[in-house]
Amino acid sequence: MRELAYVNGVVTAPEDAMIRIDDRGLQFGDGVYEVIRSYAGRLWAPERHFTRLHRSLAELRLDGIDIAHIAAAARDLLAESRIPDALLYIQVTRGVKPRDYAVETQGPPTLVITARPITALNPERRLRGVRVIVRPDPRWARVDIKSLNLLGNMMAKHEAAEAGAFEAVLVKDGLVTEGASTSLFIVTDGVVITREQGPHILSGVTRALVIECAEVLGMCVEERPYAPAELMAADEAFLTGTTFGVYGIAAVDARRFPAPGAITSSLDALYHQWVKEERDAPR
Ligand code: PDD
Repeated sequence: MRELAYVNGVVTAPEDAMIRIDDRGLQFGDGVYEVIRSYAGRLWAPERHFTRLHRSLAELRLDGIDIAHIAAAARDLLAESRIPDALLYIQVTRGVKPRDYAVETQGPPTLVITARPITALNPERRLRGVRVIVRPDPRWARVDIKSLNLLGNMMAKHEAAEAGAFEAVLVKDGLVTEGASTSLFIVTDGVVITREQGPHILSGVTRALVIECAEVLGMCVEERPYAPAELMAADEAFLTGTTFGVYGIAAVDARRFPAPGAITSSLDALYHQWVKEERDAPR
């Protein structure tokens, strides 16, 4: 088992991987990415991640790279790393060109992939829930594209960390959007509520799977806008994301929640059952 990096076909240890200084990813953040995890050497929800990557590439009109090629390179790197529970980071940039805002011609994109062991989940967080703070959403207007432009996310997350919280819940135009690097759900009177898909949220893969879990469990799901006051008045709240699955929220600023709440717990249980079934399925 070893950490590996892939840059346009060259596989090395991550510390030996090189990209050119004129790469547009470095100069402009002109690129997109995906984070996929594996359980027991098997990618979790790969089709959904590759579909989203395909969409991000298309939205930025970043062409010249085939999604099947990216998927094959990612699978090969994971196999070569022999890391059972891995975090696969995939990044595609518009490649190397002298710094120029306009994109008249496009050379070959740069494909970077790393395979690393996933850092152990914090069982306390799953058991007792996490604290979050509420902050203005400072991001650009197309956060549905999983682009490399993560300054707003990073700064909000940093503020959360400084406040001793796990996440910053973001608010734009008087409405809750999502966490800085997570999707957000609230539960009120048994109804599971999350923001509708659109330019203001990243359409999370875990978000979609948890909505399916809720539907299987016969719960009512509403994808719609809601204000911070509705979050504060909710019975339960929870976060979702690829790396951890489902985390109950124990506090939003000074407001405490019963974490994890009953509905959060049943969604978490079904989600992990699905993960386990996929992990243990015969190959
Ligand atoms: N973050 N919202 C934002 C802004 C995110 O960055 C992420 C994922 C999510 C959850 O999406 P998913 O369920 O597909 O992981 C929601 C990744 C993991 C990251 O940037 O590291």
